[in-house]
Amino acid sequence: MLEKYGHGGDLRSASELFGIAEGELLDYSSNMNPHGPPASFKTIIERYWHDIIHYPDPVQRDVIAAIASRHQLAHEQIIVGNGAAELIDLVVRYIKPSKAAIIVPSFVEYEQAIVKAGCELVTIETSEATQFMPTREQLSRVIDECSPLLYLLGYPNNPTGTLLPIEQLLKLLDSGAYVVVDEAFLDFHPDEDRLTMFQWLNRYERLFVIRSMTKFYAIPGIRLGYMAGANQHIQAMKQLQSPWSVNSLAQKLGAAAFDETAYIAKTKAWLVEEISWLTGELEQLGLQPHRTVTNYMLVRLTEQINVNSKQLQQEMGMYGVLIRDASTFRGLTDRYIRLAIKDRTSNKKLLHILEQILKRHRREGWQG
Ligand SMILES: Cc1ncc(COP(=O)(O)O)c(C=O)c1O
Repeated sequence: MLEKYGHGGDLRSASELFGIAEGELLDYSSNMNPHGPPASFKTIIERYWHDIIHYPDPVQRDVIAAIASRHQLAHEQIIVGNGAAELIDLVVRYIKPSKAAIIVPSFVEYEQAIVKAGCELVTIETSEATQFMPTREQLSRVIDECSPLLYLLGYPNNPTGTLLPIEQLLKLLDSGAYVVVDEAFLDFHPDEDRLTMFQWLNRYERLFVIRSMTKFYAIPGIRLGYMAGANQHIQAMKQLQSPWSVNSLAQKLGAAAFDETAYIAKTKAWLVEEISWLTGELEQLGLQPHRTVTNYMLVRLTEQINVNSKQLQQEMGMYGVLIRDASTFRGLTDRYIRLAIKDRTSNKKLLHILEQILKRHRREGWQG
């Protein structure tokens, strides 16, 4: 299986498994901006050669200034990390609640961070029947009966691509709990600035908002994320971080990223169009893509299709196309896969290969 180390995007394992060179694989198992990094990043990287003999800025001044200006935050409210993954781990270690709650299914690192910190895990189970959203009654029950001290939530959620209503997040905050909102994929949303939870930081001292720069700017190999929260908590968490955990290249790219206004606009426009096109095409193949607000889709293998997520991953892999077997997410069965959304040429290739494979696994009576 492709997720033997817990995540999609593991090209090395895929190459070993399918006997195909890493550079020839088409990766739909991790969710990056298909435009690749902005062109200006290449220039920064080329010049960077001269800087590697120096330590990075230990307090990340330039990148923090850029983040503060982008989201209208005070510098003291911001901490930068070696990817959002470091900050998820750090914030749970810092709060160390007796009980912490997650929505199921969600990003596997949430549960792992909670378990690693020795906290009791509370799960809020969702399913397709409620569009993978918790109901209001369900949240009230969790607050009243379990009283978790921390909620760790994807906004949008991974792998479902759903966005919790802000009222639900505020309800959790009003219960007095800490709420960590992972906005790793929110920057793909055209309405990002209206939806972001950054705007509530001044009201709620127990709110933390995490962002990743690896997905939108297509630099997962560099590692860069940030988190904002109340000044006193952020300063205390900095004390728990390893020194120089954010390398100088990541800091330089992060400081330049928000100036890429044309790239940002192009990415947001591409996604709106591609979600709608790809959804229609997948439905034509007899698949059931779940409605998404971001650059991946949870897709159900319908009754007409006589293949499970593991077999399909294996067969697609033989053609050099990697998909995420979503049965590895707690709460999902082997009737679900997750697909990234890429550029039209790649998406056509994905659809063509899917079509070839699904033809062989169609149950009798399908009229597609
Ligand atoms: C929902 C979510 N949050 C955070 C991360 C981690 O992002 P980063 O690459 O910035 O560590 C991922 C990575 O896949 C993710 O899916």
